Amino acid sequence: MSYKIIITGGAGFIGSHLVRHFVNKYPDYSIINLDKLTYAGNLENLKDIEDKSNYAFVKGDISDAAFINNLFETENPDAVIHLAAESHVDRSILNPGDFINTNIIGTLNLLNAARSIWNPGSDKNLFYHISTDEVYGSLGKEGYFTEETAYDPRSPYSASKAGSDHLVRAFFHTYNMPVVVSNCSNNYGPYQFPEKLIPLMIHNIVNRKALPVYGQGAQTRDWLWVLDHVYAIDLIFHKGKVGETYNIGGSNEWQNINLVNTICSIMDKKLNRKTGDSAKLITFVKDRAGHDMRYAIDASKIKNELGWKASIGFEQGLEQTIDWYLANEEWLEHVTSGAYQNYYEKQYEER
Ligand code: NAD
Ligand code: DAU
Repeated sequence: MSYKIIITGGAGFIGSHLVRHFVNKYPDYSIINLDKLTYAGNLENLKDIEDKSNYAFVKGDISDAAFINNLFETENPDAVIHLAAESHVDRSILNPGDFINTNIIGTLNLLNAARSIWNPGSDKNLFYHISTDEVYGSLGKEGYFTEETAYDPRSPYSASKAGSDHLVRAFFHTYNMPVVVSNCSNNYGPYQFPEKLIPLMIHNIVNRKALPVYGQGAQTRDWLWVLDHVYAIDLIFHKGKVGETYNIGGSNEWQNINLVNTICSIMDKKLNRKTGDSAKLITFVKDRAGHDMRYAIDASKIKNELGWKASIGFEQGLEQTIDWYLANEEWLEHVTSGAYQNYYEKQYEER
């Protein structure tokens, strides 16, 4: 079967890896990348595939209902893979409204537009919503998030993602819209905007800037190589069961301070600096408000039912990530000018 798919947020971190993967792997599919190009979206991420005949870019805002309805009527897509979102927790604390607008209203607009052109229950159509493990709240020392874990979002970002997950499932139950949802842990890899922990630390180490560790750095995250998320999305898109939810995670838990120290020692070697040089930049700063303590995913369902497993280990993925950022300083330079600077100046003044 061949599909016309709208991938939203395809100029962002995960979206650009997903678009590249689908465009190259499925030449018979037609891929439309719909993205507003916020500070986090960058078409440089897709330079290598922009001329492919099965790829098109459309600039647009998912919170603009009239624009979205018109696009769906004109393009008549078979499927949607929805990644567009405001994605950074710290920004959601500063400015929750943007998150409600894009993550909730934007998702509703896409659902309404798809519903208006699709026949209920059609097996060619699919609305695939990409979500996060943060909707499940925060874990103590023990336990894992499963697909049955009750929702307990605790930041404006996770509340907005939880709201969008509920809307997607409501369209399945109420209108028989063919949907699938996946909730993933922290991704890392090339093209991640350097406001997120790993690329921020790499960027600051290169520039000998302070490495801001929130609180005591005791929080734990479960890190997953971005392409392993993409391979999971591919599997779920083609083989997932309509109406189901799949959790995706790396079984790779790191306390923030241990991860930052590890990045520092790898970077000392790569930059020919004295052992311990980079770690001197670590600066403990005021904790994130409402900071979730621990995320960890139980990915048994996608492993057992769809045969997914991570393709590379963290040591290899982290090294590849650091090498990519060191080789792509021009990309870093481009994305860190403008909006990013203003945001960080404001945030650090407040800390
Ligand atoms: P990102 O911030 O790198 O990219 C988001 C993209 O969405 C950008 O290209 C941006 O321009 C676009 N966008 C934002 N608002 C838009 C709007 N109103 N209309 C159209 N486009 C808009 O995000 P990411 O890290 O790649 O995350 C992608 C998705 O995956 C998000 O839904 C996020 O919640 C989810 N997710 C992310 C992670 C992670 O670790 N990064 C983990 C699990 C789930
Ligand atoms: O779990 C999935 C989520 O992972 C995604 O849904 C989000 O879109 C994504 O941003 C990410 O959220 P986190 O808040 O976990 O990621 P972040 O990289 O912002 O932070 C990781 C941890 O590091 C977190 O405990 C906060 C801490 N941190 C972060 C930054 C940016 C610091 O200590 N210092 C920092 O400067």
